[in-house]
Amino acid sequence: MSEKIPPEVKQEIERLVRDLNYHCYRYYVLDSPVISDEEYDRLFLRLKEFEEKYNYILPDSPTQRVGAPPLDKFEKVRHTEPMLSLDNAFSHEEVREFDGRVKRFLGADDEIEYTVEPKYDGLAIELTYRDGLLLRASTRGDGYAGEDVTRNIRTIKSVPLKIQGVKEVPGEIDIRGEIYMDIEEFEALNREREEKGESPFANPRNAAAGSVRQLDPSITASRRLHLTCYGPGAVKGVEFRSQWEFIRWLEKARFPVPAIVRLAKGVDEVVEVIREIEEKRRHFPFETDGAVVKVNDFELQRTLGVKTREPRWAIAYKFPAHQGTTRVREIIPSVGRTGVITPVALLEPVRIGGVTVSRSTLHNWDEIEKKDIRVGDTVVVERAGDVIPHVVMVIKGKGKTLCHP
Ligand code: IVH
Repeated sequence: MSEKIPPEVKQEIERLVRDLNYHCYRYYVLDSPVISDEEYDRLFLRLKEFEEKYNYILPDSPTQRVGAPPLDKFEKVRHTEPMLSLDNAFSHEEVREFDGRVKRFLGADDEIEYTVEPKYDGLAIELTYRDGLLLRASTRGDGYAGEDVTRNIRTIKSVPLKIQGVKEVPGEIDIRGEIYMDIEEFEALNREREEKGESPFANPRNAAAGSVRQLDPSITASRRLHLTCYGPGAVKGVEFRSQWEFIRWLEKARFPVPAIVRLAKGVDEVVEVIREIEEKRRHFPFETDGAVVKVNDFELQRTLGVKTREPRWAIAYKFPAHQGTTRVREIIPSVGRTGVITPVALLEPVRIGGVTVSRSTLHNWDEIEKKDIRVGDTVVVERAGDVIPHVVMVIKGKGKTLCHP
């Protein structure tokens, strides 16, 4: 039996939960902690002892992030509003055409205001908060219904368990975002998997998806996953007027938001921001495959509406791809113009940046040995400019198969 709780202990527990959640936010969302890890651990232990002694556990207690037992299967969750996909643009010209369509549809002469954000390459997620508390987290699924992955998502430290810091807390709100894994973490995870003889993940997106879709939340907890939030789903009780306003609200409410969100008036400014993101993406610790351009004003978004599965008010600009993953069919010697024999890999055709690649130079036999490239291997090929594509790395694994969740 737990002991009756004195009011000062109750207050102390409430204070510890509040402080620990704040420090968690400083560390995992702002990347700017104000106390040491040891101090955090000390407070955490103190909270855990009180909770156990008095059996008084708040729903947003940081102790509740871990420890949920494994499930047999995921429950299905219907999204109140469908989670749509985005149309793609592969050139600045296509972004201009998108702007043209928006203006024509709205009968607008003036420049349209847009937001531009990086496109995160991860797993789309919907977080549902009721009266400020995290109620459920679900995957996108087919856009209409996904899987209930709440216990797994709770283990991700940058996911707020409670909406705080804002005056307006909606009665119920669906917040959409992306769960992703940093490139460094992905590489470390793959190294570890290879050492254990497990198949590696093909890319950080698959690693993030595979980590979330685990029946045992302790596996998700062991992977360093991140969240970024970029849009609302169904909202009750608060009115947001624009994407910009929503992003500012998310920030105040302690949600992680995309590394760059810019307001751009007219398509020229949009293209400028796209260039900025493309320039800065190499310094991002995560993978981005493009930029998302959205009409800022929610009223205009509603007027523009949705086609079948994509909204008319947004587009994803895709950066030209330089790398692709494929399999080695054959390794053959090839005689060059100067008579030098170089080994060449014949590949299963793969489209990289609008070009189909079906062969790749292997430079020399030493290189093959060094990289341990064999027929049947899955390889990452890179095409830079017009030079002959080359093999960057082999994705090794048991039976040479990739792990696609
Ligand atoms: S907005 C109407 N913003 O891209 C759809 N999506 O192809 C609203 N994504 O399923 C999506 N970063 O998982 C939006 N900054 C961003 C994004 C983003 C990544 C993903 C999202 C979505 C997919 C659309």
